[in-house]
Amino acid sequence: MGKCPQCGQWNTLVEELLVEEKIPFQHPREIQPIPYDAIENIDVSRIKSSIGELDRVLGGGVVDGSLVLVGGDPGVGKSTIMLQMAYNLSLKGMNVLYVSGEESALQLKIRGDRLGVKGSSILIYPEVMLEHVKEQISSMQPDIVIIDSIQSIFSHQIDSSPGSVSQIRYSAGVFMEIAKTTHTPVFLTGHVTKDGWIAGPKILEHMVDTVLYFEGHTTGALRVLRAVKNRFGPTGEIGVFEMKDSGLEEIEDPSGIFVHGNGGDIPGSSVTATIEGSRAFLVEVQSLVSKTSFSMPKRISIGIDATKLSVLLAVMEKRSGIFISSSDVVVNVAGGIKVSEPAVDLATFMAVASSALERPVPKGVVCIGEIGLNGELRPVTNMETRIKESRRMGFSQIMLPKANQDSLPRIKGVNLKGLSALREALSILES
Ligand SMILES: Nc1ncnc2c1ncn2[C@@H]1O[C@H](COP(=O)(O)OP(=O)(O)OP(=O)(O)O)[C@@H](O)[C@H]1O
Ligand SMILES: [Mg+2]
Repeated sequence: MGKCPQCGQWNTLVEELLVEEKIPFQHPREIQPIPYDAIENIDVSRIKSSIGELDRVLGGGVVDGSLVLVGGDPGVGKSTIMLQMAYNLSLKGMNVLYVSGEESALQLKIRGDRLGVKGSSILIYPEVMLEHVKEQISSMQPDIVIIDSIQSIFSHQIDSSPGSVSQIRYSAGVFMEIAKTTHTPVFLTGHVTKDGWIAGPKILEHMVDTVLYFEGHTTGALRVLRAVKNRFGPTGEIGVFEMKDSGLEEIEDPSGIFVHGNGGDIPGSSVTATIEGSRAFLVEVQSLVSKTSFSMPKRISIGIDATKLSVLLAVMEKRSGIFISSSDVVVNVAGGIKVSEPAVDLATFMAVASSALERPVPKGVVCIGEIGLNGELRPVTNMETRIKESRRMGFSQIMLPKANQDSLPRIKGVNLKGLSALREALSILES
């Protein structure tokens, strides 16, 4: 079968041999149910990695006994951040076991030298056999374990090839048991195949406590670390980094990096204020609309969900009177960050409209708001935070849903323009 009958995607099926899996969890019989009130409250202890952006996505630091998956495209910087974290923790007197199944010790040393890693409390262990790794952990009793990567580890208990679903699931189960019984934090890195998460980290998502996902174009320097699942903290939190020769450098103030100047002057660009976790920051949505030379116009979206873009374009055509059905439309969020919240709708609309009409959004304008199917503007959450961030970055005019404006207190230094329908937004475009 080329097409998956469940999700409708093509070429996503992978062969998995049926093998008898030994379940790594073996609970002793004597465990009894405990009355809720009798459960002792122990505070989760967190160790700060001293990489602020990493601690933020972890929910405040590395939690004892947690199993964390760090996923991302090949070459995005998973090993780099793990080594940097290992070094910082070693400086705090922790013993780190770094299992390197993919790279030799020398390769790791070359990277480490570049990052300024020193010291002997990080043990590099170039091993791929699960049983050996397990033995090493129990004899060394490290304070933290890093498995780079989970796909490279295999067990001879399982009959299928390294990297297969059964192998990954089995190894992850073993590491889960190690983390829970020894209270040692275990980090697993996992790469994503070209076509998505097949046969890889996706199947681990429900097993692990925390899933961090590394985003960013490997060609550019910006990297975004996102918590998509966290049993010990909030999700949606992001950490922003720049990949440098000396490793990943934190960017504490992302607004300045995704938006240059205060926008404007070129058609096809619009700035919005987005909320990721606990932070608001500005991003620039860019668009290029050009006459198509195909029978089916192309729709390309980078950083914005493709379905979302299609819906927006349909609404645009029907409700704002801008015709794009015979044009190719490209939308890109500058800097390689992905934005998924509805508040970005208005900026996406403005970018496309601005390019289609060849009329720029004026300087200093930020567009925030969700667009409904009838072309109406719907209020979004945290409007005050977004406006204050826009003001801080030198933007003074905010286009926002009328319903938001009505419930806002007066904010000094900004000019608010409340909109109830899409058409009203077009009046701001420069002629
Ligand atoms: N000398 C250098 N200067 C700046 N950046 C570098 C340098 N060498 C490597 N890099 C960056 O480091 C990245 C590789 O990082 P790393 O090996 O941590 O990625 P990874 O996610 O572990 O990859 P893989 O999936 O192959 O394990 C490169 O893509 C590049 O961006
Ligand atoms: Mg790596």
